[in-house]
Amino acid sequence: MTRKKLFIKLSIAVVAIIAVTVIVVVVVLVRRRNSESENSIICERLENSALPFCDSSLPIDERVHDLINHLTLEEKIGLMVDKATGASENIKLDPYFWWNEALHGVAWNRNAGTFFRPPTEYSTVFPQIISLAASFDRELFFRMANATGNEARAFYNAGNSGLTFWSPNVNIFRDPRWGRGQETPGEDPYLNAEYARIFVDGLQGDEKQAGFLKVSACCKHFAAHSLEENRHSFDAVVTEQDMADTYLPAFKACVENHVTSIMTAYSAINGIPAAANKYYITDVIRGQWGFDGYIVSDCGGVNDVLYEHKYTNSTSETCRAVLNAGMDVECGLYGSFFSDDGFLREAINDGTVTEAMLDTALSRGFRVLMRLGHFEKDATSPFKELQPEIVNSEPHRLLSLECARRSIVLLKNDLSVPGISRLPLNYQDFSAYSDASMALIGPHLNASTVFLGNYHGIPSSIKTPLNEIRANVPNLKWEFGCETDSFENVRLDEAEEMARTSSQVILFVGISTEIEGEYGDRSNISLTGMQSELIDRVLAAAQNPVIMFVISGGVIDLSPYKNDPRVGAIIWAGYIGQSGGEAIADVLFGRYNPSGRLTQTFYDNSYLGKVIKQDMNMRPVNGSPGRTYRFYNEEPVYGFGFGLSYTTFLYTFLSNDDVQISQFASECTNVGLIVENVGQRAGDHSVLWFMVPPNAGRIGHPIKILREFEKLHDILPTQTREIHVCLSPSMFQLANENGDFEVVLGEWYLMVGDLTKRVVLT
Ligand SMILES: *[C@@H]1O[C@H](CO)[C@@H](O)[C@H](O)[C@H]1NC(C)=O
Ligand SMILES: *[C@@H]1O[C@H](CO)[C@@H](O)[C@H](O)[C@H]1NC(C)=O
Ligand SMILES: *[C@@H]1O[C@H](CO)[C@@H](O)[C@H](O)[C@H]1NC(C)=O
Ligand SMILES: *[C@@H]1O[C@H](CO)[C@@H](O)[C@H](O)[C@H]1NC(C)=O
Repeated sequence: MTRKKLFIKLSIAVVAIIAVTVIVVVVVLVRRRNSESENSIICERLENSALPFCDSSLPIDERVHDLINHLTLEEKIGLMVDKATGASENIKLDPYFWWNEALHGVAWNRNAGTFFRPPTEYSTVFPQIISLAASFDRELFFRMANATGNEARAFYNAGNSGLTFWSPNVNIFRDPRWGRGQETPGEDPYLNAEYARIFVDGLQGDEKQAGFLKVSACCKHFAAHSLEENRHSFDAVVTEQDMADTYLPAFKACVENHVTSIMTAYSAINGIPAAANKYYITDVIRGQWGFDGYIVSDCGGVNDVLYEHKYTNSTSETCRAVLNAGMDVECGLYGSFFSDDGFLREAINDGTVTEAMLDTALSRGFRVLMRLGHFEKDATSPFKELQPEIVNSEPHRLLSLECARRSIVLLKNDLSVPGISRLPLNYQDFSAYSDASMALIGPHLNASTVFLGNYHGIPSSIKTPLNEIRANVPNLKWEFGCETDSFENVRLDEAEEMARTSSQVILFVGISTEIEGEYGDRSNISLTGMQSELIDRVLAAAQNPVIMFVISGGVIDLSPYKNDPRVGAIIWAGYIGQSGGEAIADVLFGRYNPSGRLTQTFYDNSYLGKVIKQDMNMRPVNGSPGRTYRFYNEEPVYGFGFGLSYTTFLYTFLSNDDVQISQFASECTNVGLIVENVGQRAGDHSVLWFMVPPNAGRIGHPIKILREFEKLHDILPTQTREIHVCLSPSMFQLANENGDFEVVLGEWYLMVGDLTKRVVLT
């Protein structure tokens, strides 16, 4: 080998080594860079990981304080809104979308982008809350909320949602016209408070035990929100008494159960917009109740303070008013008041708002995100076991079916048909070889998306009544007759003909969220479109009494059918979720014995002429007959708590004696009840304990009040169950005109079913 050749070979080797080294270094650098910028775990990023806010051994307030110290003013402004823009100057925070929804399952929301992206294309859709509440089943409430919270965390773990969910809606369903009453547990403050407490528990999980919140719940809309019409400018004029015993209890229960967020209403409360209401936000919610989470405005609510309520005079004043009141996160509707137009920046520039005010607001939001583990390092990041496989899983789908079955309310059951005198039907009677024939008639006979109600997720499939009933009755006939809310595609003659030629007609009527929903109060509570005519034609033609399924969230005036012998049975099946059709078939054929009880008074249409929708009074004043079972002093069509079963339950008090209780008693007094199934079928049953105060229905006292409820499962024929209610002095309190709760001495009655027991408080 010549020297020259050796030199060339060496040179090539050196160049090659250098080239390889350069390539390796570049690749390593690029990969490191990528892994840093792509690392979704905030406290594993190089910029953040060594800072105190990422040190999980420090107290949370110290961490929050440190985090805020690293933010620039510009970043702080961007972080004050629901679409928070993040930070990049000194620390690295991604944009965070506060707005997520989980009313009855993880819900689709155009702002959060949680669906349509693997692996979370679907979620489990449970029944709408007004229906679920009819189960009066605490354990079921918990399982639904727990499953929803688990799916919510799984969405987050998949990178497809935030951790802050703006549910539940615990407003009182005050007026039957309200389009969003369906989202609430109903008209009773105790039931709403119990539901709120359990939902918050199930959604948020056990923070003490887990070390972190599972997801964050938000009780809304504070307070007294219960109409859609002009909601952005409405002033809810509420007495102290109604505030104390009707509008506040569910929110108080939320705070007592450590809810981490409250949303303010659009409306004003006695002249002061809820979003700028310092008395309620700061003095009551944080001060008296001890709330330690974040307060969010309803979306567009800050805008309303200035432009709708005209409570403030300028954009700067508006920023100050809401921050000073104690609001922390602004939810914008079409853009945000704080950021898009630079109003918050302006307010800081002109000295109306200080940076310290932003720090206070931000610290409350960040504190909740920290309790959720949003910043943790991978090693400490919680709930990693909740992966997308649990979303829309078999157990959750079965739970949704269970919830739907227990939500259905049987209102009338007297078919008087020879051979079939009552529900349930035996589908073998309608086999291909029998003369009996079954026809489904009405716009909701093939209901599907209508079962989802407001604020729903995207289910992988929906069970329709037609399909589920046809599975048992193959020669089933059907005729829609008309649409829910239009005067097109009317086929009344065809429906009449089918009714004439069928031995059993099953009507499927009702409304939908097109008619009652957000922005949509009703003007009346009648069936819409051509449905009344359809029913009249069918009833006149039918050979035998018909069965009527009514699908709605709010009340439908059923007075025309309640006492009509041509209507043999009425079942209120609400927006009961993705398994709606299956639950309906199960009730129809007796695979489930219905046990739901109404959580709203079923009025007739004339009621609406007697109460002004905007009148917030619960008590009968200004010539109104009062609102809800606690105050309504006329006969309802079907009352709060009404609901039949395929079997009969008989109540007997354990003792016939009156009860005497001292207002100073330190322990509660037990009253026992025997519940016996004296019918032919096994069934579930909810026991509702009411109390009737002295001067019931007079001097501002309610007619009666729900004080306790208990769901009993699978009581077999002839079986008995013994249950108890424990009467404590606090159950004898009523709110006075100043909104203070006072013990009312004297003769009370404990009421359960038709039984009453005299209880004297001394
Ligand atoms: C609630 O969810 C957890 C998972 O976070 C599960 O282990 C538990 O069994 C659920 N509880 C109920 C009552 O469904
Ligand atoms: C708005 O302007 C009116 C009239 O000038 C004044 O009385 C009121 O105090 C102002 N309100 C606020 C919040 O600045
Ligand atoms: C019933 O609804 C399902 C699901 O929306 C649809 O696929 C089917 O065609 C409908 N059936 C009739 C008879 O309209
Ligand atoms: C009742 O309300 C429906 C839907 O809100 C409406 O279409 C209908 O016109 C109303 N009927 C009357 C008599 O006001």
